[in-house]
Amino acid sequence: MPGPLDAVDPRAAVVEDRLAGVGRIVAVTGSKGGIGKSVVSASLALAWADAGRRVGLLDLDFTSPCSHVILGADEGFPGEGFGVDPKDTAGVSLMSVAFFAPEVAVPLRGDEVAGAFLELLAVTRWGELDLLVLDLPPGLGDIALDVVRLVPRVEFLLLSTSSRVVLGSVERALRLLTGLRVPVLGLAENLQQGNDQGVSRLGASFGVPFLGALPYDAGLEDALGDPGRLRATAFFAAVRRLAGRLSG
Ligand SMILES: Nc1ncnc2c1ncn2[C@@H]1O[C@H](COP(=O)(O)OP(=O)(O)OP(=O)(O)O)[C@@H](O)[C@H]1O
Ligand SMILES: [Mg+2]
Repeated sequence: MPGPLDAVDPRAAVVEDRLAGVGRIVAVTGSKGGIGKSVVSASLALAWADAGRRVGLLDLDFTSPCSHVILGADEGFPGEGFGVDPKDTAGVSLMSVAFFAPEVAVPLRGDEVAGAFLELLAVTRWGELDLLVLDLPPGLGDIALDVVRLVPRVEFLLLSTSSRVVLGSVERALRLLTGLRVPVLGLAENLQQGNDQGVSRLGASFGVPFLGALPYDAGLEDALGDPGRLRATAFFAAVRRLAGRLSG
């Protein structure tokens, strides 16, 4: 539902144009923090790029952006010209607030977060893409709700772990997203160690597809920042299967 300010903010109208050449837009969330949303988002983007798709990745964590660290992007300001160009990083078109404020936490609050999000969407020249992955910050707060409000055609991929603490939070997220009638592509389990069926059961109880599990991989940490090593991990092999399931 547009608010009174939307009518006068020209950026909201520009967003649709900026995303016009983008096929699918997949937002990765899970509501709980630290469950692997960023490594999964970056790896999904990399797996799709490896498969020959034109892929973008937008890091929407304004306080702790890390997609550039995971993919090993070079430092420095992105190119400009009637907008800002995402940086080609290992074949993925990457945009992050980290390119504008390296090494500094961006002290944004409330409306300022919404403003920064709108600004990033309004200035980024994605061009033609098959897929754009949105790496969401933890929680289903302002950013996630603005994604629902402002990003056309967005579909959500929910991540969970089998921990009851996380499952409870993901259940609330599922209730919210299905209540808002937002398309949910499915639920994937991350950090899998045993054979717990909690995540697939949760998906089934909402009629949401279970898309498989990504193993806990002790070698992942050392592979971060090096796409070549990342591709060689067991974690990435599972993400590749997930990417195939999502785009197949
Ligand atoms: N399957 C996995 N195996 C091993 N380590 C993992 C796995 N998934 C995530 N991690 C590690 O867990 C940590 C948190 O991951 P990540 O930053 O992607 O989580 P997040 O959900 O994006 O966090 P935040 O909520 O803060 O945005 C990272 O150090 C990451 O390397
Ligand atoms: Mg993250």
